[in-house]
Amino acid sequence: MTLRFPDGFYWGASTAAHQVEGNNVHSDFWLMENLEGSIYREPSGIAVDHYRLFKEDIGLLASFGLNSYRFSIEWARIEPEEGKFDQAAIDHYREVLLACLSMNVTPIVTLHHFSSPQWLIRAGGWESEDTPERFARYCAYVMRELGELIPYVCTINEANISIGIAKIIKRHQAGGDGQAQVGINTTDKSRMVAYFMEVGKAFGLPPQEVHSFHGARTEKGLEVIFRSHTRAREAIRVISPNTRIGLSLSLYDIQSIPGGEEHASHAWNEEFLQFLPYLEADDYLGVQNYTRMVYGPDGALPVPKDAETTQMGNEYYPEALGAVVRFVSKHLAKPLFITENGIATDDDTRRIEFIDRALRGVHACIADGIPVIGYMHWSLLDNFEWQLGFSKTFGLIAVDRATQERKPKPSAYHLGRIASSDSL
Ligand code: BGC
Repeated sequence: MTLRFPDGFYWGASTAAHQVEGNNVHSDFWLMENLEGSIYREPSGIAVDHYRLFKEDIGLLASFGLNSYRFSIEWARIEPEEGKFDQAAIDHYREVLLACLSMNVTPIVTLHHFSSPQWLIRAGGWESEDTPERFARYCAYVMRELGELIPYVCTINEANISIGIAKIIKRHQAGGDGQAQVGINTTDKSRMVAYFMEVGKAFGLPPQEVHSFHGARTEKGLEVIFRSHTRAREAIRVISPNTRIGLSLSLYDIQSIPGGEEHASHAWNEEFLQFLPYLEADDYLGVQNYTRMVYGPDGALPVPKDAETTQMGNEYYPEALGAVVRFVSKHLAKPLFITENGIATDDDTRRIEFIDRALRGVHACIADGIPVIGYMHWSLLDNFEWQLGFSKTFGLIAVDRATQERKPKPSAYHLGRIASSDSL
């Protein structure tokens, strides 16, 4: 049976500046990747040269039949030194937005996707009380310059990511799985200590005072992040009243087996429900999902030995997306935008099946009246997967990094066909 999606559904793919653009030299990640003894598998370098090749990439996206592109504007480029805004960077992103619009592609713009300016980290980073004001000032600047070209803005990508990261590290330290996701050898203590000393030196701070976005967060730090969102939202509302504003959250499909119910409900609270007050005045929520997490009487269960897994060590479980959307919709009456969903695999047939099964779940939600407004696949291009470097292939398009040649995979055309016909 053909499943039809609503007219006007946003179909697209996502990227993030640091992962694709290349030469993000004023960012905290750049500094950490390039240190002696870095725990990063490799530096991002020129990445996939998207800063230069964005027109070609957006052109490919449009040629598949997709109608939207989610990308991020890089704070470290716009404001490389505190209070000094770089006009050339603004001009660049104006070009990107105009390229989208000229190809009938709706731009969905993220203002912070993990990487931050080095100066922000030196000034206390994501634990500092001053960060919400600093972030709002940057967002206001971007929106004054570009807001009229931006219909949807996502202030902060995966504002709750520190919770997931802390859990993965804990699981790995306890001897479980999780190393693939964090990409660091957390059991090699002396290497970690030496590396964090180097990081501290590079930022001119004691190592425990380096608070980049990707790290562990205190209660206060979490509040700093969510207040950064609400301050940014207030500022953007005034400057760009037609832009729809939200943030995105990393959401596992949290399940339990008998005896694990309490752990599961605790996890939903920790990863999602506690943030609801911050979302009340938003226009939509960005939902990002990759897999499920199952809880038993002793906490999160490892991925079963016989389960199919992705390059990230995640269980292959596309049904997670529909389940997450359903849970979220019970607690938040707002449009839901799938801003990321996908898998790292070198077998593109598995990606195609993943897309179909995930979309079947989304379609069932829509049929039940849940307002899902779009699906952005992660990712448009194979790219720099943070600590794991270029080893993980999430893209609809492969990239030969020696030549920067783009090679669309069958999954790109597959998703494009679904998009063009609004049906599966
Ligand atoms: C992030 C992306 C990342 C992806 C795959 C999400 O958590 O937003 O930047 O590449 O997951 O790990």
